[in-house]
Amino acid sequence: MGFKDEIKRRRTFGIISHPDAGKTTLTEKLLLFGGAIQEAGAVKSNKIKKGATSDFMEIERQRGISVATSVLAFIYKDKKINILDTPGHKDFAEDTFRTLTAVDSVIVVIDVAKGVEEQTEKLVKVCRMRKIPIIVFINKLDREGKDAFDLLDEVEQKLGLKVTPLSFPIGMGYDFKGIYNIWEKNINLFEGDSRKNIEETIAFSDIESKELDTIVGEKAANRLREELELVYEIYPDFDREAYLKGDLQPVFFGSALNNFGVRELLDCFIEIAPTPRPKDSDTRLVNPDEDVFSGFVFKIHANMDPKHRDRIAFVKIVSGTFEKNKPYLHVRQGKKMKFSSPNAFFAEKKEIVDISYAGDIVGLHDTGNFKIGDTLTEGEGMNFKGIPSFSPEHFRYINNADPLKSKQLEKGIDQLMDEGVAQLFTLEMNGRKVIGTVGALQYEVIQYRLEHEYGAKCTYENFPAYKACWVKPKDSKNEEFAEFKRVKQKFLGHDKYGQLVFLADSEFSIQMTQQKYPSVELFFTSDFR
Ligand code: G4P
Repeated sequence: MGFKDEIKRRRTFGIISHPDAGKTTLTEKLLLFGGAIQEAGAVKSNKIKKGATSDFMEIERQRGISVATSVLAFIYKDKKINILDTPGHKDFAEDTFRTLTAVDSVIVVIDVAKGVEEQTEKLVKVCRMRKIPIIVFINKLDREGKDAFDLLDEVEQKLGLKVTPLSFPIGMGYDFKGIYNIWEKNINLFEGDSRKNIEETIAFSDIESKELDTIVGEKAANRLREELELVYEIYPDFDREAYLKGDLQPVFFGSALNNFGVRELLDCFIEIAPTPRPKDSDTRLVNPDEDVFSGFVFKIHANMDPKHRDRIAFVKIVSGTFEKNKPYLHVRQGKKMKFSSPNAFFAEKKEIVDISYAGDIVGLHDTGNFKIGDTLTEGEGMNFKGIPSFSPEHFRYINNADPLKSKQLEKGIDQLMDEGVAQLFTLEMNGRKVIGTVGALQYEVIQYRLEHEYGAKCTYENFPAYKACWVKPKDSKNEEFAEFKRVKQKFLGHDKYGQLVFLADSEFSIQMTQQKYPSVELFFTSDFR
């Protein structure tokens, strides 16, 4: 197979959901179909059940030893599927946002009873901004849930999507009889007793047929006919181009736990989901089937195993092929680097491979050379766009609690920030360091890791900020900007790239600042340049 065909058969995607909707269960069932695992329960949940640090640490420790769970890959019907893991916990939402820069499409899992939840809303918003193709999977149909039409409405309204169902449930909860697959025009029956098995499928080109009444009962059959009529009336026909552009989202119904509706989802997915997509850089658009390699770091994973201290940088290959021992340019550092043991990911294992293709993820051992967002090429001096920092929501001063270890503390903070665990701001006024995070949990994580990995101790002190706004004056020399800097002196700092940041203490203060200094622009993500 030529390298272009290899690229064409790749499907790299992420599954996103609010915690508990069924992401882990669905991932596991997809792997079962791919023959990548043999039994249920093999995929470790990355869920933080109690919201406790100890839980997080345990997960990290396990993953540190087996970081392979960050990417789960398998072959299904000759397609190479790469599933990128996204943490569901809101305190790690930034990690998920960054992972979304490396996927070519997503599947959103929604709980039929709970409907659209908060975390789903946030994540889908990011997908919409990036025009990522989305398939919606409504899960837990074996339970009583919301009416299918109401749910479709809710998905459109709360998530701002335009949907078209490609399957439709026959009954729900106790009365759940099966699913009519609009895409394949067949019926999949849900048998109470054989729920764990893959059901037989009955082809149905004509739902008017009397046979339907015999199979699901007259009442259910008539209801399905009426509902399908409504579906065809209300929703547009599926249009792959619209889906690929992010303008139309197909919806499937099923039950991941019972392995019901999952094969249908997967079969449709491999047909419609995008092959690796082109990506914009600061100089040009890069196409996946270009001959030369390019890629970017979207995630850095510290190895929590004390015997192997190095980190793993996850690189999404944007174009060409990545080869072992070939020199590549680390654009930010302007130096060539070779990698003798790049990891590729298969189901739950990682293996050293000679060659990987656009769409794939490789894991590179790193001793501190990489930051999130770094670009690797075969020599071209370009940088991929689009790994923004989002404004943190929690802020604390970080203090050194062991004066003899200040070097270790500095190194630790520096490396943890490179990994994207949190953001560091240095106050302009006095050089004090403020750590901003998305969730409070990260402070404990940082403290724990500084102590266990770097031998440094820290304490925190409250810093009364509400949001970090990146500042861009329309004219850096005008009097208005000078006054802004004078008045807001106490709240100004710099991020790790030296960009000016205003640490506002309330929404009110942001509004007042915008009114008072209209020529000083404020941004809530760092990618405004
Ligand atoms: P997450 O990764 O999105 O957080 O969700 P996860 O797959 O862990 O699923 C959350 C809970 O929902 C699990 O139950 C899981 O068994 C259940 N679940 C997933 N899919 C279905 C489904 O189709 N039907 C029903 N009825 N339940 C489903 P749990 O009790 O929290 O965990 P466990 O102890 O069973 O593992």
